[in-house]
Amino acid sequence: MLRKTYTFSEKKTAYYFNAEFGVLDQLVDPSKGVIITDENIYQSHGRKFRHWKTIVLEPGEENKIQSTVDSIIQQLIDYGADRKSFLVGVGGGVVTDITGYAASIYMRGIKFGFVPVSLLAMVDASIGGKNGIDVGPYKNLAGTIRQPDFLLYDSSFLKSLPLREWVNGFAEIIKHACIKDATLFKELEQNDLKFYRQDKDALSKLIQRNAMIKSKVVMTDEFEQGERKLLNFGHTWGHAIETNYNLPHGNAVAIGMVMACRLSEELTEFSQTQRVIDLLQKYGLPVDMKVDKKKVFEVLRMDKKKVNTFINYVLLADIGKAVTKKIELNKLESLVNNY
Ligand SMILES: NC(=O)c1ccc[n+]([C@@H]2O[C@H](COP(=O)([O-])OP(=O)(O)OC[C@H]3O[C@@H](n4cnc5c(N)ncnc54)[C@H](O)[C@@H]3O)[C@@H](O)[C@H]2O)c1
Ligand SMILES: [Zn+2]
Repeated sequence: MLRKTYTFSEKKTAYYFNAEFGVLDQLVDPSKGVIITDENIYQSHGRKFRHWKTIVLEPGEENKIQSTVDSIIQQLIDYGADRKSFLVGVGGGVVTDITGYAASIYMRGIKFGFVPVSLLAMVDASIGGKNGIDVGPYKNLAGTIRQPDFLLYDSSFLKSLPLREWVNGFAEIIKHACIKDATLFKELEQNDLKFYRQDKDALSKLIQRNAMIKSKVVMTDEFEQGERKLLNFGHTWGHAIETNYNLPHGNAVAIGMVMACRLSEELTEFSQTQRVIDLLQKYGLPVDMKVDKKKVFEVLRMDKKKVNTFINYVLLADIGKAVTKKIELNKLESLVNNY
C-alpha cells in the first residue's frame, strides 16, 4: 500500500493506493461509520461490508437526485447518526457524488471518505471535492465543494466492473493524457484495454498516475478559476450531445475530444487529431457521430462555460498541452458546420 496526502485549501486528503478494503477498519471506527453503496456493488461485494451499517441505493444516474438524498437522510436518522458519524461512499461516481453531498448537508456537515470502485470514479469522479446531484435535465446543478478525508483504492473491486464502464473510464484517462501527459499518451498507444485488465501492476500504476494528474490540477485551482477548466476538454461538445442523444458519458466525451482536436487544428498549432482518433478507437471509443448541429447548438448556448456570446473552449496546443480559448458562438457554429 502507498499512502500520499494532497493538501487542498480546506484540508488534507489521504490517498491509499494499491490498498485493501480491510484498511477501512483502521481509518473509520465501525461504530461511527455508515457505508453508502449501490445494488450492483452490494451484490458482488456486499460480504466485505458485513460489519458495517450500510445504505444501498438503486444504481444509475437517474437516481442521483434529491429524493435519494432525502432517503439517505432518513436512514441516517434511523441509524442514530450524529455529528460524529462518518459516511463512506463505496461506489462509482454516482455514489461518491451523492455521498459527499449528503455528508456535506447532514447536520450541517459530517466527515466522509470514498472507496471509488469504478475506473471512472478512481481516476476522476471521487477526486476534487465536487459533490452534487442532478435537478431535472440539469446535471450536477445542486452541490458543494468539500474534500473527503481519504480515498481508498482497492482494484479488486474492478473484477465485477462491466466492460462498457471500463471504456467509459478510459475516455477520462485519454483526456488526462491529452491535456497534461504526453508520456502517458505514448504508453496508452503502446498498450490496450485487454492489457490493463489483465496486468494488475500496470493497472494500479495507471490509476495512480491519473489520480495524481487530476489531484494536481484541482490543487492548483480548486475553485475553477483557470487550470481546472482544462479538465473540461471534450466535455463542451460532449455534454451537449450526451444530453440530446442519451449517450454513455465516455462515448460523448470521446466524440467531444475529436471535435476539440479539429477546432484546435484551426485555432492553435495542433496537428495530431489522427493520433487522438486512433487512440480512442483502440480503447473501444467512438470518434464521430452524425448529429443535428442546430439542436446541439441550442444546448451549447445554455452551457455554463458561456460568457455573453463567447464560449471558453478547451483546445490542444499539442499532445499533453491544453489551452483555453474564447470562441464566439457564431464562429464556432460556422467552424463546426465544416466537419
Ligand atoms: N465530482 C466530480 O468531479 C465528477 C467527475 C466526473 C464524473 N462525476 C460523476 O460521476 C458519475 C459517473 O460515474 P461512474 O461512471 O462511476 O457511474 P456510476 O456510479 O453510475 O457507475 C456505473 C455503473 O457501474 C456500476 N458499477 C460501478 N462500479 C462497479 C463495480 N466495481 N462492480 C460492478 N458494478 C459497478 C454501477 O452500479 C453503475 O451501474 C456521473 O454522475 C458524473 O456526474 C463526478
Ligand atoms: Zn467526464
